[in-house]
Amino acid sequence: MPERNQNAAQEWQSGVWKRMSNLYQDEWDERFGPIVDAVITRAEMVSGETVLDLGSGTGSVAQQAAKVVGPTGQVVGVDLSEEMVEIARNRVSSLSLKNLVFQQGTGENIPAPDGAFDVVVSSLTLMYVIDRPAAALEIARVLRPGGRLIAAVWAGPDKCDIVRFQQAAGRFGETPPVSGVGPGGLADPTLFLKQLADAGISASVDSESFQFEFLNFQSAWHAMAGVTTSELTETRRQEAQRAVMNMMYEDGDEPRTYRNLTQFIVGRN
Ligand SMILES: C[S@@+](CC[C@H](N)C(=O)[O-])C[C@H]1O[C@@H](n2cnc3c(N)ncnc32)[C@H](O)[C@@H]1O
Repeated sequence: MPERNQNAAQEWQSGVWKRMSNLYQDEWDERFGPIVDAVITRAEMVSGETVLDLGSGTGSVAQQAAKVVGPTGQVVGVDLSEEMVEIARNRVSSLSLKNLVFQQGTGENIPAPDGAFDVVVSSLTLMYVIDRPAAALEIARVLRPGGRLIAAVWAGPDKCDIVRFQQAAGRFGETPPVSGVGPGGLADPTLFLKQLADAGISASVDSESFQFEFLNFQSAWHAMAGVTTSELTETRRQEAQRAVMNMMYEDGDEPRTYRNLTQFIVGRN
């Protein structure tokens, strides 16, 4: 992709997460908690290890990792969005975790030296990365030889309700400047596994289903589509809501469980 288009795409992505940042803390931190735990479990970190949390968001994974690796270890959270970095810093400020820092940066250009980390964790982020081959090279570069990668990404809309909802609502919003980037962007991780292999990381995938609830359609819409459809006219928004509701609320507007198959990419450098 030409550099100009790449920058425009990243600006668009950064704008989405800027608008999402406060909502994320209120709506998603708790709901995604079990996925964060699953990433931490699979990472098998031990005391003293150095860890990169790529796409650290509000800091949930990095905070847990810092507790596991302890004062002799070090965790760096890197996120595209300044707003997310700010929220993460504020969130941990009272915890006196001296081994945890957050900084702005991207998966395509990780602000760290070669071989700096024993582990790279990345929860629900890599599907939003615009240039995934570049990110694969960067992850391999910052991992030490033998270092581990553990990433969580959503499965496709047929197996993952959050992706189904967001893709259906997204059809009514503005067309993203790049294709293949978004919640279902790594539903088929085959190409990304090859990009990782080309970069020197041998990885495989295992899956597990996680669920969360919304009490009614409007609260689900607010959390899952409020930001991405904020520019729609009222008429168009109503049209979008009717379409998503017809597709996902066959039994009417009542509490609904969202079942989300989640894929874990686990690899070694
Ligand atoms: C769904 S959130 C996940 C946050 C956190 N890892 C969690 O599990 O709660 C995705 C995060 O990826 C970040 N992100 C998107 N594209 C990125 C990129 N190219 N490089 C680094 N971070 C990126 C967003 O800013 C956002 O904070």
